[in-house]
Amino acid sequence: MKITLVAGARPNFMKIAPIIHAIKKSNAAHNSGIEYRLIHTGQHYDQKLSQYFFDDLNIPHPDANLEVGSGSHAVQTAKIMIAFEQELLANPCDYLLVVGDVNSTLACTLVAKKMGITVIHVEAGLRSYDLSMPEEINRMATDAIADIFFTTTPEAGYKLTKMGCDTDRIYFVGNVMIDSLISNLQRLQQPSVWKDLNLKGGDYYLMTLHRPSNVDEEKNLQQLIALLGEQAADKPILFPAHPRTQKQLQAIGLPDNVHMVEPMRYLEFIYMVKNAFAVLTDSGGIQEETTYLGVPCFTLRENTERPETITVGTNELIGTNPDHIIKAFKILKSGNWKKGKIPLLWDGHASNRIVEELLGM
Ligand code: UD1
Repeated sequence: MKITLVAGARPNFMKIAPIIHAIKKSNAAHNSGIEYRLIHTGQHYDQKLSQYFFDDLNIPHPDANLEVGSGSHAVQTAKIMIAFEQELLANPCDYLLVVGDVNSTLACTLVAKKMGITVIHVEAGLRSYDLSMPEEINRMATDAIADIFFTTTPEAGYKLTKMGCDTDRIYFVGNVMIDSLISNLQRLQQPSVWKDLNLKGGDYYLMTLHRPSNVDEEKNLQQLIALLGEQAADKPILFPAHPRTQKQLQAIGLPDNVHMVEPMRYLEFIYMVKNAFAVLTDSGGIQEETTYLGVPCFTLRENTERPETITVGTNELIGTNPDHIIKAFKILKSGNWKKGKIPLLWDGHASNRIVEELLGM
């Protein structure tokens, strides 16, 4: 079986890593004969958003890097499509496996599907139904034409059936990102900023903000950070900032207790999540990582494609309304934040289940 694997942007790397490790394990143990080719589209190219993740997660050097770089959504998606078509013409495969919801996911799906290649989507069926988010468009369009769907929750499978997918093409396997988390828990590294800021376990907030809706309007970003800084006044907020957020922050003063740092390596970032008092974020994946680790999470968005992190886990959808933020801080500080549980099959074995299913195809 020849399979091409695609990874393009930071949130892809922790999803593709355990799948590669599971393929290698299966090939070594059972002579499974899965031939894979790993393609990096180059959507993310900064060392801090890309290479550090390859290093920390032991991802093999990609067989090809399409080096598409940044651009508008149309430019980036088109550049990936043009380069990926050449890649597939030169290196034909039976299956394309894509993960998540970034522009690389959709661009490569479109190309492969039109070339008659069977497309496998890992983390299929997530829906916020908010089409102002580019990721939602990527998720819906990918799922509309993919052939095989691996899901993180039963609800994601239900959403796929609602849009007409055959149930026998949907496999509830669990969460590959949590595979990465579990397999690296013993390898976490304390970042140097821990000592620099004299941080203590359970006594700081960790914050990430990079959604265009939160960071692109300078005034909104400033008001949001000022409010979060004020509400968290008794503790420092560590703020590893995405390049686009850093750009915006150049013109904005930060409250004294908000400490902006460069994007962190995977092993350092998860260390900081695990030991945080609470996490303030607009990320998708971090809602899942905090749920697994049992750390309170404020999602600073109006909707989520990951509802189990709320119904089962420690996440709450707070949005950006100041009244809601203030109320959430009150509950958190009173010690009454919900405890949460770990969703079904988030057990570190999702990638093994995926490989088992692949071998059966
Ligand atoms: C992408 C994903 C998003 C994910 C995020 C995580 C899409 C639509 N979005 O958003 O789902 O949560 O990654 O990081 O695919 N830039 C750099 N260095 C890089 C890459 C980007 O400085 O290596 C800067 C550029 O100015 C670029 C901007 O960040 O224009 C946005 O990058 P882009 O890849 O378009 O989207 P992200 O916001 O990173």
